[in-house]
Amino acid sequence: MTTLEGAVVVVTGAGRGIGSAIAEELGQGGARVVVNYARSREAAEELTRKLMEHGSPQALALQADVADAAQASRLIEETVNQFGRIDALVNNAGINIDRSLKNLGVDDWNTVIQVDLNSYFYTVKAALPHFMKQNSGKIVNISSFVGQAGNFGQANYSAAKAGIIGFTKTAALELARFKVTVNAICPGFIETDMFANIPEKAKEAILKRIPLGRTGTPQEVARSVRYLIVDGDYITGQTLNINGGIYM
Ligand code: NAI
Repeated sequence: MTTLEGAVVVVTGAGRGIGSAIAEELGQGGARVVVNYARSREAAEELTRKLMEHGSPQALALQADVADAAQASRLIEETVNQFGRIDALVNNAGINIDRSLKNLGVDDWNTVIQVDLNSYFYTVKAALPHFMKQNSGKIVNISSFVGQAGNFGQANYSAAKAGIIGFTKTAALELARFKVTVNAICPGFIETDMFANIPEKAKEAILKRIPLGRTGTPQEVARSVRYLIVDGDYITGQTLNINGGIYM
């Protein structure tokens, strides 16, 4: 893809945080953006207005809990019904339920795997026929450095995020012949609500571990998504680390 102008992109979990920054970055480049949200309709609709004020020709807020296969499929079908195509899919929706293994319940495990890993399969599966028919497509899966390095209290989250990397590589292999690229991005600690929920003491300890000495911004992750979509025609099956050096 040489330009975002008019491209149709879907960003899951785009109501806030990294997803919202990705939607803004792509919208500013002229993409038509589907802002997926699970519950916060107002925030998603407010974002679509902002996107259209700042360069997006069309933006649409679509509700879907992507952890539900039928809803994930409906998200993609509604996108294609509204815009006639889909050029890029950014899987970003994610949650965490952090407990050490000793306290981690089966439900805590299943819920996080369902949202953070299974949903990525559901949306890709639904978008696949369209990408194959178009003979083009870009998939960007937001993973985490925790999927590469592990993290105390995040067995469920790290398993899901590691799973995303394996899924990305296999999808890249299978879809290359349809000129569909599939890549993962592994952010380090990024300033969003997810990070804000970490206790202050733990945050101080985290900062000491980051070679660049600071957390990242959602915009820094968003720019890497844009790079993979616009300039990434020859990049597939890769994991791009945006992490201040916390994992090398
Ligand atoms: P956030 O909690 O601010 O935003 C997550 C978004 O996903 C929210 O809008 C939420 O409503 C949405 N969401 C959750 N479950 C959903 C579902 N079932 N269906 C649709 N939407 C759903 O989190 P943040 O920080 O913006 O995270 C975005 C992605 O980046 C996640 O995949 C997260 O794991 C990943 N990440 C975040 C890091 C950080 O330090 N903030 C570090 C590495 C990865």
